[in-house]
Amino acid sequence: MEVVVLQNPAHVGRFVADLVVDLVERRPDAVLGLATGSSPIPTYRELIHRHRDGIEFQRTTTFLLDEYVGLASSHPASYRRFIDDELTDHLDIDASNVHGPAGDTNEPHGEAERYERAIAAAGGIDLQLLGIGADGHVGFNEPMSSLSSRTRIKTLTNQTRSDNARFFDGQLNDVPRHVITQGIGTILDARHCILIATGPAKADPVARSVEGPLQARCPASALQLHRHATIVLDEDAASRLEFISYYKEAFAGRDISVAPSGDR
Ligand code: GLP
Repeated sequence: MEVVVLQNPAHVGRFVADLVVDLVERRPDAVLGLATGSSPIPTYRELIHRHRDGIEFQRTTTFLLDEYVGLASSHPASYRRFIDDELTDHLDIDASNVHGPAGDTNEPHGEAERYERAIAAAGGIDLQLLGIGADGHVGFNEPMSSLSSRTRIKTLTNQTRSDNARFFDGQLNDVPRHVITQGIGTILDARHCILIATGPAKADPVARSVEGPLQARCPASALQLHRHATIVLDEDAASRLEFISYYKEAFAGRDISVAPSGDR
């Protein structure tokens, strides 16, 4: 794991955008895995700026991590709507290359399997952006998810539903109970995973994921198994890491470098 600790969320956004742009310049047809939630927003804003400055995303393909079961893509709290509003509508990506699980399907299990096949048919994900939930979830893989799970239906915990009620005008009852999410095994198949975490509320799940035991109780700890995972943190999210001075020293001295994304 490469652990990169930066001053604040704006620095994190610029750093991660650099990695995405570097990949897209080297491989214009890159397959990008996109996360929702507030953590990647500074990165998305930065990517929109880079596009305005001339970076093209025309040939990229994107796949969302997850979606709420029961929400159509037009629903204001759907993840498809979120990613369109926050990123893809502002880039030159063809809408037909922006993929997410269909939340409003009558066949959610079949949709999960179809989505898993669609990712494989695109050649797999070159660079997967991830956030982390307060309970250590990635995508919507709640604690005790199989570490080799594939895209499937999951039931959300009460903690996650209440964390996400802010996107439903604070109405907990409106937050769906079920989701379609890429599995942990699906996420680990990405050629490069970048986990973004900022703010003090993420300090505990980050410490458990990076330095705690590898365990289903903390799904993001599965990234310890990945051959190319980059954990990009601000000072607050890094504040409970035992080896923080080592990570900083290693990064400053370039003992570690952020290897190029998406090597096939
Ligand atoms: C949701 C998403 C996750 C995201 C998490 C954290 O549960 N399914 O992909 O990482 O929220 O969100 P935030 O970045 O807003 O804290």
